[in-house]
Amino acid sequence: MNYYVLSLFPEIIENSLNASITGRAIEKEIITLTSVDIRDFSDNKHMKVDDYPYGGGAGLVIKPTCVYDAYLHTLSLIKNQKKPRVVYMTPQGSVFNQKKAADFAKEEDLIILCGHYEGIDERVLETIVTDYVSIGDYVLTGGEIASVIVMDAVSRLVPGVLGNSESAFTDTFSDGLLEYPQYTRPEEFLGMKVPEVLRSGHHGNVEKWRHEQKLIRTRKNRPDLYEKYIMLHPEEELKD
Ligand code: ADE
Repeated sequence: MNYYVLSLFPEIIENSLNASITGRAIEKEIITLTSVDIRDFSDNKHMKVDDYPYGGGAGLVIKPTCVYDAYLHTLSLIKNQKKPRVVYMTPQGSVFNQKKAADFAKEEDLIILCGHYEGIDERVLETIVTDYVSIGDYVLTGGEIASVIVMDAVSRLVPGVLGNSESAFTDTFSDGLLEYPQYTRPEEFLGMKVPEVLRSGHHGNVEKWRHEQKLIRTRKNRPDLYEKYIMLHPEEELKD
């Protein structure tokens, strides 16, 4: 997986992705990160990339010319014959989820475009963007952190990125339920004991308890997911 991220603040992206599990994957060259600074493609001597919006209004709009030139430069770096998808991070996009992460993880190259200020001139977006993606119904100061979230979720689905002990956690959402609670030593903490069933060593009972905990937690925290799950598995509906 090769990421090419076009933004005005490459340091946010590099600092985040070069740490922890994604950092290790970059070191091992399982994933690559190329950040392209849109400002390098400014066409004026003050390195300005934005201008006043036509029609008036608050904020500045990123000019189409520098984004397009940054995009053409990025294409020149990509060896693959196939034209890569271009993901634009915007609260106007469709909301990112595990299914989208799995879809993006199938790609070899992904270009991700991050905006700032009031947005990017619509004409260049119409020309280059294939996917408009939001990470949720709130507005960030820019798309950089949103792009890091997308790349993190996608990267852990790329074969070889997670070690064996980490891949145990890939199940969340894959069956439509939230995960069960986890415990480790000590057996007693602030007067609270690890549930008896987990200490029993009875594998069947442990599995049953964990599945029930998933249902309880999902019903409490994500009633929308619980309803969907119960429609498909009515026999599993919680009694109380
Ligand atoms: N840029 C600003 N807010 C955003 C959001 N919620 N998702 C994606 N990109 C954004």
